[in-house]
Amino acid sequence: MAENPDPRPEHLPQRIWESIQRDELPPPDDRGRMRLVMNNLVLHLHPSKVARPTLKFTYTWGLGGLALLLVMILAVTGVLLMFEYTPTPQTAYLDMLKLQTEVWYGQLIRNLHHWSGNLLVITVFLHLLRVFFTGGFRTPREFNWVLGLGLLLLVVAANFTGYLLPWDQLAYWAVTVGSSLLSYVPLIGEPLRNFLLGGPEVGAATLTNFYGLHVAIIPLALMGIVSFHIWRVRKDTLSIPRRLDGKIDDGGTGSTQVEKVTTLPHLVSRELVFALVMTGLILMWSVWVNAPLEAAANPDHSPNPAKAAWYFMGLQELLLHFHPVFGAIIIPTLALGALAILPYQRFDLSAEGVWFRSLKGRQMALVGAVTGLIATPALVLLDEYALDLPGLMPSLPTLISNGWIPLAALLLLLIVYYEIIKRVFKATACESRQSVFVLLVTAFVVLTVIGIAFRGEGMALMWPWEVLG
Ligand code: HEM
Repeated sequence: MAENPDPRPEHLPQRIWESIQRDELPPPDDRGRMRLVMNNLVLHLHPSKVARPTLKFTYTWGLGGLALLLVMILAVTGVLLMFEYTPTPQTAYLDMLKLQTEVWYGQLIRNLHHWSGNLLVITVFLHLLRVFFTGGFRTPREFNWVLGLGLLLLVVAANFTGYLLPWDQLAYWAVTVGSSLLSYVPLIGEPLRNFLLGGPEVGAATLTNFYGLHVAIIPLALMGIVSFHIWRVRKDTLSIPRRLDGKIDDGGTGSTQVEKVTTLPHLVSRELVFALVMTGLILMWSVWVNAPLEAAANPDHSPNPAKAAWYFMGLQELLLHFHPVFGAIIIPTLALGALAILPYQRFDLSAEGVWFRSLKGRQMALVGAVTGLIATPALVLLDEYALDLPGLMPSLPTLISNGWIPLAALLLLLIVYYEIIKRVFKATACESRQSVFVLLVTAFVVLTVIGIAFRGEGMALMWPWEVLG
């Protein structure tokens, strides 16, 4: 019988590679192109060609990719941590100590998980700002922006539920403060909080609930929506960076035609190098800096001040100035609602891909940032030391005197600011809206910094060295 020759390559490494990746060239028609994509994992995630200008690092700053990398690091380190962790008040804290002292690389794995989680909150926030300031949310990417907002909420929820798991004083009291915000939701607030905590206070049932949310429900939702988000980026393609003169920002002449390059190797090689560098940096940081762990949780001894997790400090600061329903519910809901309907507004489409839309847009963004930097601390000081609205209007319920009235006053100030930018500085509606957005983002960041670094015992205002001391 004639021998049947083996069609596979002669060399073993090439044979192994071809068993993973089939590189045969398909015929150059539609079916052929489809076969190329079907046979290639990378081309399931990316289009086969991308616009060369979008490879420019200073357009995306790699923030979406970094968020994805962090989600992956979190998944791997999270699964490893699960081997040594039992979510009960008796064992959780001891497991943390064991991880840090007895388990091989336990401290490093915990550090990697902790710092990646925190960095993810910052990365996703910065990614949102990048998309906003380059107009990357406009048609056809509106829905992807809304999906992104869902991701932002999930990332915060993942961090919040994970915060409780070490069961130390920091965890216990941050979650007690954080979850108390929920009880201000009208009508359903208290039952909702009891449902989440598994009772009226943070306890064993809360740990079980948070563990389930943290290791199963939130990661599943996150991975589902992240896949959807990345698929939409593939379908809609990335917005094209442009210069102030409207020409394509290709790093050179600025042509009017978009040059396309193949994803393999142009985009994928850049992604790999970026991922390696970032993984190295996160690893180095995690080797040097340990995740915090305080004394074991003691429900009878509340620290002073009892602060929420750092990413909720902006909200906790708002609560000191507004009636709780406004600080915890109405203002955050208004802000999220405004962000969600943002891409459905009418926009000047020619500004897509231009950082801050135009030269005037850049100047007005700076005005917004400076105004936010000055006005926010000024208003905090005014409310802290000079203005006592409930005291001035004792006959009114605080919901009005410390809720509706200051909110209406602030909205009025914002409208006046918008009109000044539009009429005095002759900015377009788009540039003026952007300036208001910058002002509000700056105010939120300043409030967060005040909450973290300038609030000490009894949540009184003090200098950071007094807070730390
Ligand atoms: C876990 C969270 C997230 C992940 C993993 C993620 C991932 C990505 C990636 C990889 C890209 C393409 C490259 C880049 O722009 O850097 C992208 C683009 C995009 N993302 Fe996200 N993202 C996340 C959260 C968000 C958030 C919070 C928003 C906004 C609310 C958002 C809105 C968008 C939009 C609109 C684009 C297309 C931008 C353009 O074409 O210029 N994403 N995202």
